[in-house]
Amino acid sequence: MLVFAKTSLQRERISPQNPRALFFNDETYVGFIPGAPLLEIAVSDPKLGGVFYTLEQKEMRTPRVSRNDQCLECHASAKTMGVPGDLVRSFETDEAGVIDLASGISQVNHRTLLTDRWGGWFVTGKHGDQAHRGNLIGKEAFEHQLKEPSFLGNITDLSRFFDTSRYPRDSSDIVALMLFEHQAHMHNFLARLTYEATIAQEQYGHLNYLKTKISSFLKYLLFSEEAPLNAPIEGSSGFAQDFTRRGPKDRQGRSLRDLDLHSRLFKYPCSYLVYSEAFEKLPAKLKHQIYKRLHEVLSGEDASPEYARLGEASKKAILEILADTKKDLPDFWNGSQTPNRSPVIEPSSKPSIP
Ligand code: HEC
Repeated sequence: MLVFAKTSLQRERISPQNPRALFFNDETYVGFIPGAPLLEIAVSDPKLGGVFYTLEQKEMRTPRVSRNDQCLECHASAKTMGVPGDLVRSFETDEAGVIDLASGISQVNHRTLLTDRWGGWFVTGKHGDQAHRGNLIGKEAFEHQLKEPSFLGNITDLSRFFDTSRYPRDSSDIVALMLFEHQAHMHNFLARLTYEATIAQEQYGHLNYLKTKISSFLKYLLFSEEAPLNAPIEGSSGFAQDFTRRGPKDRQGRSLRDLDLHSRLFKYPCSYLVYSEAFEKLPAKLKHQIYKRLHEVLSGEDASPEYARLGEASKKAILEILADTKKDLPDFWNGSQTPNRSPVIEPSSKPSIP
């Protein structure tokens, strides 16, 4: 992904002619600015939340990745849920990439409407007639887009903006952007809950006061307030295929990474970060609570309207995928599932779940 909004420790190096490239997998984010002295790295740590490092961009006998706490000046604030974490924003910029802080949104995630996203970012790929703020540089471009909503949308070639040959990839894939936005907030949420549960456990010896927070987390985990798509989304780099291939798959070949990209991001909307270390290493009691609530929602025992959008078929599919692919489910997950199971999945042939 490519962002040209001037921010970070090396903001003077970033511009629409020299954007910052961001790469990520499920636990690590890397920022690369051609010509800048430092490579920027953020890692999701199950105890601490985001941990930040830099790597000097000059030839050395022993390259060193150094912990850098200066990054927390921005990466630990109300915008990251008050814990060390990830930032994703969308603001208008001028021709040089300087942000107009009065113009946008400082916490973008999967709930943010597409019309509000990607100010300060390049965006490549197809999205039909859904407007967004990507690829717009300077006041005139933003004004033009108000009259012509598809202005600079649905493009795959960024060479009109800058010299793409200096980057490992010449795209800023719309699918990668959308998954990044889901994931960054998810990481912050996991870190926030970890801190709160640790404190509550020490102070009160129980997590009863966290019920509302756990419910909000569940809604995010299950995409219940996801911004709707009203035209198909198509990436521009093969990212979607690589992402999906990573699985894990259940015995019917289904995976939480299967993308829909027509009316919503995922076919089975439950975050793939349930497989991440940050989730798996949540404080035990907290994780148990989350699984309990998750099971109530997916099994239909909790029929609250906020989860209605998921639909019965998706709930059942997610329940089954998790049963097949997660090793750390509590015992109650098994038994209560058997009655509605499709015949293809025989409980007797299930892998043993500790
Ligand atoms: C002046 C504020 C600021 C500072 C200081 C800062 N960042 Fe960021 N960083 C941002 C913003 C804002 C974003 C969101 C992307 C954007 O709008 O450019 C971001 C995004 C990132 C990302 C992409 C994923 C994520 O975690 O949000 C990485 C990686 C990153 N920064 C690393 C670092 C590192 C490493 C440092 C310290 C060397 C650092 N940043 C210091 C503001 C800052």
